[in-house]
Amino acid sequence: EDGDKFDEEEKGVSTDTQTFMALCSCVPEDRATQSLLNKLIRCSLVNNTNQVEVLQRDPNSPLYSVKTFEELRLKPQLLQGVYGMGFNRPSKIQENALPMMLAEPPQNLIAQSQSGTGKTAAFVLAMLSHVDPANKWTQCLCISPTYELAVQTGKVVEQMGKFYPEVKLAYAIRGNRMERGNKIQQQVVIGTPGTVFDWLLKLKLMDPKKIRVFVLDEADVMIATQGHQDQSIRIQRILPRDCQMLLFSATFEDTVWKFAGRIVPDPNVIKLKREEETLDTIKQYYVLCHNKEDKFCALCNIYGVITIAQAMIFCHTRKIAAWLAGQMSKEGHQVALLSGEMTVEQRAAVIQRFREGKEKVLITTNVCARGIDVEQVSVVINFDLPLDKEGNPDNKTYLHRIGRTGRFGKRGLAINMVDGEYSMGVLKAIEKHFNKKIVKLDTDDLDEIEKIAN
Ligand SMILES: *[C@@H]1O[C@H](CO)[C@@H](O)[C@H](O)[C@H]1NC(C)=O
Repeated sequence: EDGDKFDEEEKGVSTDTQTFMALCSCVPEDRATQSLLNKLIRCSLVNNTNQVEVLQRDPNSPLYSVKTFEELRLKPQLLQGVYGMGFNRPSKIQENALPMMLAEPPQNLIAQSQSGTGKTAAFVLAMLSHVDPANKWTQCLCISPTYELAVQTGKVVEQMGKFYPEVKLAYAIRGNRMERGNKIQQQVVIGTPGTVFDWLLKLKLMDPKKIRVFVLDEADVMIATQGHQDQSIRIQRILPRDCQMLLFSATFEDTVWKFAGRIVPDPNVIKLKREEETLDTIKQYYVLCHNKEDKFCALCNIYGVITIAQAMIFCHTRKIAAWLAGQMSKEGHQVALLSGEMTVEQRAAVIQRFREGKEKVLITTNVCARGIDVEQVSVVINFDLPLDKEGNPDNKTYLHRIGRTGRFGKRGLAINMVDGEYSMGVLKAIEKHFNKKIVKLDTDDLDEIEKIAN
């Protein structure tokens, strides 16, 4: 009756791609080739199971994500181009990245994304959206680490811009010889750092002050090549302050991170979380109970700990959620209830209050919790363990739920209420699935409760 499931689960990476990626990663010394190979073998988007975490430059501004391309209010020519390329709906990274990239005033972005996540299409869309075709000068500049990668990106520009012929593209790559002095008319330039540097500074083919969007693609590959890092930084330096800076990288080692910080001031950040990483920063416990009243008592015992920060409590049905909220209120605890029968406005109001910290505890079901992104949530309580429609342990939903905590390296806490043999079996299955220990917690033992708080 409740249908409390994430309705749009992402599918796993296809086995072919996985195998291929595994093969590619055997040759780490040539990341540019690896990246290009990934691009070439891919004909459609890879739907990965990674969760995305978004860190906004201004945490108070609302977090927009889109589920359709129409919501982005693209120019019709571009929307036509998007559909023409076979994109039906935004990929995971596009859902979050596109609203930021297309915002006015422009926002800067550092995003982690692998090939196949729709990254190139996203930044190409951002470039094409910000071009004024009436102006016959370069307005968007994209640098890629190699000739071949630049050509690949160019192809996406050509496809995406198929119905927008007023916008022209030039390749700043080796072999494309140009005369000094005459400004080029193409609004979009894609190239490698060396040639772009020459076009800008030696040959003066473009006016850096007129660049409105600067994209640095494959930053991890970029810094692996001698000289590219310096050239990139020198290019970035001569661009105007209000130029939108976008940087992408498949990985984020310290070196990449440092480089990204020099290229992109005041960035929004989008990172992918891997399952293993997600769970590494989360302490997981379970509490053994007999029934729901017992679970409620356990909850009251740990209430002090969970309300140090903010907590979300997940119940299996609306009915249990409502019952629990009632019991908690009777105890004098101030809790918020987010329930399926509320109108959108009511839900928005509840979420907003929770965001502002007016309530420390939010009781909800899966379906309602979707899309709620509250930075301060550091405790998740599974009042009921997640089950799929057939009543089997729902590993993915478990990860979705507790993955809200422990973000950006902060430590999170997950507490699972178990009642009876069946739910113990579910817990064991989840434990096995993620291969991470879920430790027993005695909620009558004050010392133990203290311990989990630290
Ligand atoms: C969750 O993982 C366990 C252990 O790997 C497995 O037995 C169970 O079938 C999984 N549940 C689902 C719904 O896939």
